[in-house]
Amino acid sequence: MSVAFVLHRAAKVLTLAGPQRPRRGREMSDLCILEDASVAVDEDGRIAWVGSAHNLDVPGDPEIVDCRGKTILPAFVDAHTHLVYAGDRKDELEMRLSGADYEAIFAAGGGILASVRATRSADEDALVTATRSRIRRMLRAGTTTFEIKSGYGLEPATELRQLAAARRLAREDGLRIRTTCLAAHAFPEDVRDGRRTADDFVSEICETILPAAVREGLADYADVFCDRGAFSVEQARRVLARAKELGLGLRVHANELGPTGGARLAAELGALTADHLLFVDDDDRRALARAGVTAVLLPGTSLVLGKPFADGRALIEAGVPVAVATDSNPGSCALENLGLVLALACYGNRLSPAEAIVAATHNAACTLGLAHEVGRVEPTMAADLLVLDTDDPRDLVYHAGSPLAWAVYCRGRRVDRLDEAAKS
Ligand code: NIG
Ligand code: FE
Repeated sequence: MSVAFVLHRAAKVLTLAGPQRPRRGREMSDLCILEDASVAVDEDGRIAWVGSAHNLDVPGDPEIVDCRGKTILPAFVDAHTHLVYAGDRKDELEMRLSGADYEAIFAAGGGILASVRATRSADEDALVTATRSRIRRMLRAGTTTFEIKSGYGLEPATELRQLAAARRLAREDGLRIRTTCLAAHAFPEDVRDGRRTADDFVSEICETILPAAVREGLADYADVFCDRGAFSVEQARRVLARAKELGLGLRVHANELGPTGGARLAAELGALTADHLLFVDDDDRRALARAGVTAVLLPGTSLVLGKPFADGRALIEAGVPVAVATDSNPGSCALENLGLVLALACYGNRLSPAEAIVAATHNAACTLGLAHEVGRVEPTMAADLLVLDTDDPRDLVYHAGSPLAWAVYCRGRRVDRLDEAAKS
């Protein structure tokens, strides 16, 4: 395979070389940095070679991209998003900024249910178009791999349409997307007004929605919002046990609003991830570590909702592998820039910059079964690379939110200039 281009003489390449499993404890601090180094990318969009720039020896006449003064790292992997939705909730944002409470808005039939109404009335094309513009912004900020959940349908047709929209974006735009059926995101209107019971809806998820998502090849994972005002541990256990039986990997929205038992359930069922984790104790952390569940921290949501930040430091010290993701959704956090969220994981969750980088790349990739493909800079892996306009990766935290992405590649293709390419 011939070399297409070389990112040459970068001040630093953060390779994250090492085992393919999730990193925990001190392993999360090791970025395995090469200095004055180059990365060669083949015609197939894979990494052909990584090493010290003066050892570069590649066949043919590849394009040489001068990366002096830059930092190359694996492109970000966003392991928790709700990107497929219609409408927005900016009115709610203003209400919350003037004191209204997220849970109270939700209990009054707004919040998630407002997005459900908008999403139910949008067709697949509209969902694809809206999601594509969100993803374009995320690509520009350095994310090339996405987990996308449904959860704004709460009925078979719309749940499947959301998942189909995500699959279509993967196919049509050449994106790497993994999908999660989150039909158990909230109880729909007819349960709230007593026309049917909560258990009826749980049965519909188990007997209709999840089997259809699997039959149609639309879901890789299942998730449940197991929390105060949402699904109880017993209801969540039913959904997750059924999902497991259907061959889906498990992810759990857990302990965001209170110490509600979701984290323990994730450990008990061997879920891949337990996400949020604002309210966990030593026993919860021990259970997660023992079961090898990755904690997905979502500090953007803490910021936007004015909630406490999950104690990431304690999770790392307890030996729980940690990932960081945006949670990008229309209500509780519409942030899209994982580089910024990674900085929040330092300021809020008390991770070090190195830990936060591992959390937003390799560890996130592990939770999506993609550690052989993305999250490290190693030969044969996909050339999903983020080139920063700085020689110090700590600038991601120090200058949080600054436009540091100098170039972003997904499978060797520039993806940070798609709009300009379309114009010219
Ligand atoms: O992860 N916690 C539940 N679900 C989302 C919020 C979705 C919404 O508000 O629309 C979350 O924060
Ligand atoms: Fe979420």
